Amino acid sequence: MDAPKPAFKERVFSGVQPTGNLHLGNYLGAIVKFVELQKTHECIYCVVDLHAITVWQEPAELTKAIREVTAAFIACGIDPKKHIVFNQSQVAEHAELAWVFNCVARLGWLNRMTQFKEKAGKDRENASVGLYAYPNLMAADILVYRATHVPVGEDQKQHLELSRDIAQKFNSDYAASIAARGFGDAFFPLPEPLIQGPATRVMSLRDGSKKMSKSDASDQSRINLTDDPDTIALKVRRAKTDPDPLPQDEKGLETRPEADNLVGIYAALADTTKADVLREFAGAQFSAFKPALSDLLVAKLSPITAEMRRLKDDTAYIDSVLADGSVRAQAIAAETMKAVKDIVGLVRR
Ligand code: TRP
Repeated sequence: MDAPKPAFKERVFSGVQPTGNLHLGNYLGAIVKFVELQKTHECIYCVVDLHAITVWQEPAELTKAIREVTAAFIACGIDPKKHIVFNQSQVAEHAELAWVFNCVARLGWLNRMTQFKEKAGKDRENASVGLYAYPNLMAADILVYRATHVPVGEDQKQHLELSRDIAQKFNSDYAASIAARGFGDAFFPLPEPLIQGPATRVMSLRDGSKKMSKSDASDQSRINLTDDPDTIALKVRRAKTDPDPLPQDEKGLETRPEADNLVGIYAALADTTKADVLREFAGAQFSAFKPALSDLLVAKLSPITAEMRRLKDDTAYIDSVLADGSVRAQAIAAETMKAVKDIVGLVRR
């Protein structure tokens, strides 16, 4: 007889780190999708503060950034009543499951993680153990809710693959115990990344080969969610381009990273495709395209900016959202942890 196929309830989980300013890359690469998925799925969105401290954070700045990301979630249209918005450190089960995963994941797997190599740089000996084990905590974030779908930017693809490897190894290492407890042939789902849309990788406005990043020394390289309309217009006007007019089709963008980036941003904001944008702007000079782009940016971002500014002063409200979300998240996470303890053979109350 076939073992019963476990049917996992579809559930979305994603996390954003509270470090520095949120920018257009965070918005188009992730948050827009978070908002969209609310229509079709049960969603859990987490401010991953425990991930942030894998590199040292000024305590007062960290507190501020946790509230700011929460405010951005709400301002962008995430509904914390219908779905769950919370910060990671308020649900201890994340760290607890991460320990179990530290014992499931292999050193060889973590050694392949390109983000660790990039962030640790040349001085690996001096990187925190947390930075190295970061992907295990990320797997725990997702799997403590047995989430099935994870909207992320392109750069998180490798970490998602590791989460799947961890889920699979746990399922197979403990297969007999999992089956004996009535969970069928798999306790954890293999979470799928959702990476779609014309702007999953928003690039720097100064260098089309580099990602838009909060750690770029030049503020001109990114559009922050807190920039005012004049700043946005100025940054777009100064954005690096080439001297040619816009091409007829996407093929014509292949060797033009800066043009490709701006067209991608336009398409994502207008909720259309690059092909459609080029149908409208084929043959146009950047002197014509840039003002259209900055108008669109201002139209889309200014309501968000205004709401973020309003929420910024209401820390009591923000903290109450996080507290309420944490309680609801923990109810799910605690159930998973109980089952994990039973499966692994730990004695519990
Ligand atoms: N590592 C992600 C990033 O840097 C943030 C993150 C932490 C995350 N835990 C997660 C994303 C779980 C998705 C799911 O962007």
